[in-house]
This record gives sequence, structure tokens and C-alpha cells, in this order.
Amino acid sequence: MHTLEDVDKHKLPQHVAVIMDGNGRWAKQRGKLRVFGHENGVEAVRRTVENCAKLQISYLTLYAFSTENWNRPKVEVETLMKLLVASLRKELKTLHKNNIRLNTIGNIESLPSKAQKELTEVITKTANNSGMTLTLALSYGSREEIKSAVKDIAFKVKNNIISPENIDEAVINTHLYTHFLPDVDLLIRTSGEQRISNFLLWQIAYAELYFIDVFWPDFSEHHLVEAILSYQNRERRFGKTSEQLN
Ligand code: FPP
Repeated sequence: MHTLEDVDKHKLPQHVAVIMDGNGRWAKQRGKLRVFGHENGVEAVRRTVENCAKLQISYLTLYAFSTENWNRPKVEVETLMKLLVASLRKELKTLHKNNIRLNTIGNIESLPSKAQKELTEVITKTANNSGMTLTLALSYGSREEIKSAVKDIAFKVKNNIISPENIDEAVINTHLYTHFLPDVDLLIRTSGEQRISNFLLWQIAYAELYFIDVFWPDFSEHHLVEAILSYQNRERRFGKTSEQLN
């Protein structure tokens, strides 16, 4: 079984993004409520953050709550928000100690005020950390993000702040929630589902995709390493030919 030591430190993905899926099914398999799966999902979050920091990954982005997740039963949404607040309180010291900086993407204003307050506190306290940037996607939807970028740019065009001929990819990037992040290099999705579910659609244009048939609460160091080793064995051509790369 591979461990963190087997990863080539010179060929790391700069930005790893994860769709953490399968908490509910993990709990169901054990005859428990879905909430039990989310509680154990938090442990997998802690493990993954710690392992990515140890590997010196620069950016880790986790899909923690989508815009569509608001449609789940009220009690499940409340539990997820409570878990978020409790985890932020509990992990602030560890994040700080490991030089990790926290950030968010998504419609943060739609979160309960307690969650917003806790997030602001951790984001402010870790703002000067220079190790890994951990980004939580909360109330996040990629189409919503793109729509809001288009609106902002259109408004600036209308007010003669930008001229249409100057709209390029860089301008679009600066209007996305992710303006402080590089493109995703490796996107991992757990639980065996092979879809993107409205996550970072613009930012994964050239990402390597890795789908693994393991529910999120069981995602371990070994699974993370397998994903990175798979990434390291792929040839990223960005539209060029193999010969051009060599
Ligand atoms: C997907 O499993 C998971 C989520 C929608 C939430 C992820 C949240 C956590 C891991 C806990 C809180 C997060 C942080 C950052 C502290 P699912 O419920 O969709 O599972 P299913 O597909 O089996 O139903």
C-alpha cells in the first residue's frame, strides 16, 4: 500500500479539488442516519487537509455544500451547518499551527449568521499564513458563479469601466469567486459517481479527473496517494501533441 513518501514532490498538482460524496450511503450501509455519515465525513476532511499539508500541496478546495444542497431535509441542512461551525471552532488552532490559510467560495451571505461569523474569524486569523490555502466551497454553484461574473462584467461595460474588446480569460478569472486560486490540476470525486455536479466548471478546463469508488468517510491517506500517483503518471498535453511536449 502506498504512503505519502511514495509521492514525487517535484511533480505535485498545485491545486487539488475534491467532491466529497457518499456520506449518506456510508451511514445507510451501517443502518445509521445520514447525519452519522456527515459526522464521520468531518474526520475524513481533517485527515485529507492534514495529508495535503504534509505533502505541501499549495491549494486544496473542498466542495462542502452546494447551492442545490439547500433542498435537503431541514434537519440535515441544520446538522451540516452545526458541524461546520463546530469544526471551525475546533480546528482553528491546528490550521494556524500548520500554517494553513482558510478561504471560502460561494454565496456566503446565505449561510446562517453563526456560520458566517465563525468563518470570518478563522479567515481573518489565518489570513497571513503562507502554507496551504484551504478553500471551502459553501453554498457554491458554478453556474451561479459564472452568472454573477457575467453580470459584474456587463455592468462594468455599461459604465465604460471595461471595453468589450478587452474581455479575455484573465478578466473573467478576476470576476469569479476563485479569483485568488490557480486552475484546478486534479479533481477527485469519491463514492463512485462520475459527474461534476456544478463544481468549478470554468476552473477544471484542463484538470485531470479521478473518480474513486470509496465513500467519503472512508477516504484515507492511501486513497489520496493513489489519486496523486495516478495524476503523476498522466501526460498533460493542454491540447498539444506528445512530441511537442518533449
Ligand atoms: C456528500 O455526501 C457530502 C456533503 C453534501 C457534505 C460534505 C460535508 C462534510 C464532509 C462535513 C462538513 C464539512 C466541513 C468542511 C467541516 P452525501 O450526503 O451527498 O452522500 P450520499 O450521496 O451518499 O447521499
